[in-house]
Order: sequence, then structure tokens, then C-alpha cells
Amino acid sequence: MTHQVRAVVAKGKGAPVSLETILVPDPGPGEALVQVQACGVCHTDLHYREGGINDDFPFLLGHEAAGVVESVGEGVTDVAPGDFVILNWRAVCGNCRACLRGRPWYCFNTHNAKQKMTLADGTELSPALGIGAFAEKTLVAAGQCTKVDPAVSPAVAGLLGCGVMAGIGAAINTGNVGRGDTVAVIGCGGVGDAAVVGANLAGAARIIAVDIDERKLATARTLGATHTVNSRETDAVEAIRELTGGHGADVVIEAVGRPETYKQAFYARDLAGTVVLVGVPTPDMKLELPLIDVFGRGGSLKSSWYGDCLPSRDFPMLIDLHLQGRLPLDAFVTETIALDDVEKAFERMHGGDVLRSVVVF
Ligand code: APR
Ligand code: ZN
Ligand code: ZN
Repeated sequence: MTHQVRAVVAKGKGAPVSLETILVPDPGPGEALVQVQACGVCHTDLHYREGGINDDFPFLLGHEAAGVVESVGEGVTDVAPGDFVILNWRAVCGNCRACLRGRPWYCFNTHNAKQKMTLADGTELSPALGIGAFAEKTLVAAGQCTKVDPAVSPAVAGLLGCGVMAGIGAAINTGNVGRGDTVAVIGCGGVGDAAVVGANLAGAARIIAVDIDERKLATARTLGATHTVNSRETDAVEAIRELTGGHGADVVIEAVGRPETYKQAFYARDLAGTVVLVGVPTPDMKLELPLIDVFGRGGSLKSSWYGDCLPSRDFPMLIDLHLQGRLPLDAFVTETIALDDVEKAFERMHGGDVLRSVVVF
């Protein structure tokens, strides 16, 4: 059977997205059909629409989602109809070199559904990050479904599927923040704020939030930042050094993705400290640093892809902590919107007053 559902599609470079009826096949071997309950609006969806990822239009947008499994294909044993799941874009293969070495979060052969979803005229859709969840139903690889406690609200759960996991993981997985560490987070949007929350969860002694927007700093404070620095007015590197006894922070998380903020991160860390780049730069950006400083300051310069998360390990754990009142994930849902409001949500993104707009079905 083919399912006809409403979905948000980007048909051409830079063109506003449109609500379309799409066709979703029943799950084949290794696949699952998911009734989407909530899906957050992420910058990456906008990048797809603007042609910044690739030219495989039309795109079926949406990838920060949670929902209920409706049916599964042959051979699927890990999830079953009725399961409440967060969709992930890291369904690890188990067989590549990274997986075999016990580092599945670097898997380079992750699974997506094999069958294609299409427009009504049969045109194949490219699902954003292999998910495509601004749709009433979507087809994914079963491994993209991670079961979590259904007591959580779907709008909150979905956010762990991308940006919030990236930020929390940048702190707890990539940065390996530990008890008593000093941490600075540069850029306090959804990702940076999630890094603040992650650093707090890991027991950081001091969490310095840096942004050029005073409203963002106020939010970061409510999420656990102990100090804030407005880097439009103050030199971020000096301010972070001052707040860390003149040393610099043990871990600096760069959640903007620009050369100038990366340089701040590089110089604002203590000797032998760690820089984590979780903000995503564009291909034209270049970084220039004295090599002697790279050598002389030691430590580690890391990137964090999707928070180096392992969905099967991290999603259920973080949802449980949230349900116990130990992780304020609900603070990331600024507004819930309808499926036909995605284009408006893209506009609001630029205003800087939203952490996440979340489509609820
Ligand atoms: N210095 C400090 N903060 C800055 C600067 C700067 N030069 N430029 C922008 N910012 C702040 C913004 O004010 C905003 O609070 O960075 C934040 C970026 O937040 P969002 O636009 O909400 O983006 P977010 O979803 O958090 O993603 C951040 O991570 O996943 C990537 O592609 C994503 O590169 C992006 C980054
Ligand atoms: Zn693998
Ligand atoms: Zn995303």
C-alpha cells in the first residue's frame, strides 16, 4: 500500500517551501514507517532549501523528529508498531572500519530507507539527512528509530534528533567535560545553549556563555551558564581568561562556525585545553593561525559531528534524565507551529528570538 500524506517540500533553490501531497511506500526489508508527531525546524533545512547542501531537489525537509512506528518491514526486530521513537541520522552499520573498531559514532556507512518517497507525479524526493519528517508519515531505515520513554512530549523528544543532541554531545562526548572543569560556549543559539546544558550536566564548575545578543545571554543564564560575556562589547578572549583566574577555560565550545569565533575559542582555552567546533562553517571560510601557537598551546582541537552521539546510548539516557527533572529540554521549544508554518519559521530564525520552532501534527 502507498500512503498519501501532506509534507513540506523544497522544489527549487531559494524558492519558498510548499505543502505537497507525497506518496510514502509501505516499509520494505529493514525499513520502518513512522507516524511523525513532532518535527523541529533546523538551520540545516534552510540550507537544503537554499541549495547549500547539494542540488538534489526536490527535498523533503524536516529531520528533528519523534513519532510512533506504524509498521515495519521484513527482518526488523529492534522496533515494532506502536513504539515511540526519536528519528536519528546515524543508523550505524556495524560493519565499517569505525564500527568494527568500536567507534560507531564515526560510522561512515549509516543506513537510510532504500525505497523512495515521491511527489504525486512520481518524482523522487530527497529526504533531508535521510529522514524527511515534515510529513505526516515518513519512511526510514529501522535503525533510524531509537526507542525512548513515551512519557516525554514528542516536541521535546524530537529535538534530540539533531541540534540539541549536537550541543549536549559537544560538551559530554566530544569535549569530555568533567566535574570541576571550566567551560566557555561561544554562540548561544539552540546548539550553544544545549552545550551549556551538557556542561552543566557533566558537572562543570564554571560555564561562561558568549554571544553578541543580550537576549541569548539571558536565556543561557537560565539554562545553567554561571557567567555571560557580550562579545560585541567586550573582548571575549580576555573576558574568559579573567573569569578563569587568568588561565583560559579547560574546554571551549564554538557553536557559531566562523573563523573569528574559532580563533576566540582557540585563544580562550587554557594551555593544553580543548576546543570543540560544533558550529558548521561554509566551504569558503579559511582559518589562519600562527603554527607556533598551535604547537605551543598544546591540547586538542576537535570537531563534533552530531555531538559524536550514539543514538541507542544517548537518546534514552537523555530522555530519562529529562523526565527526572535533571535536563531542561523543554526550554528549547520556543513555539509549536502547524505544518504549513515552516516557511514562516525560517523567517523567524533570522530574528534571533527562537531557539526552536517545532511542528506538531
Ligand atoms: N560571536 C558570538 N556569537 C555569535 C556570533 C559571534 N561573532 N555570531 C553569531 N553569534 C550567535 C548568535 O547571536 C546566535 O545566538 O550564535 C548563535 C547562533 O545560533 P543559531 O543561529 O540559533 O544557530 P544554532 O541552531 O545554535 O546552530 C549553531 O551549529 O549546527 C550548527 O549549522 C549550525 O553553524 C550553526 C551552529
Ligand atoms: Zn559503520
Ligand atoms: Zn538539524
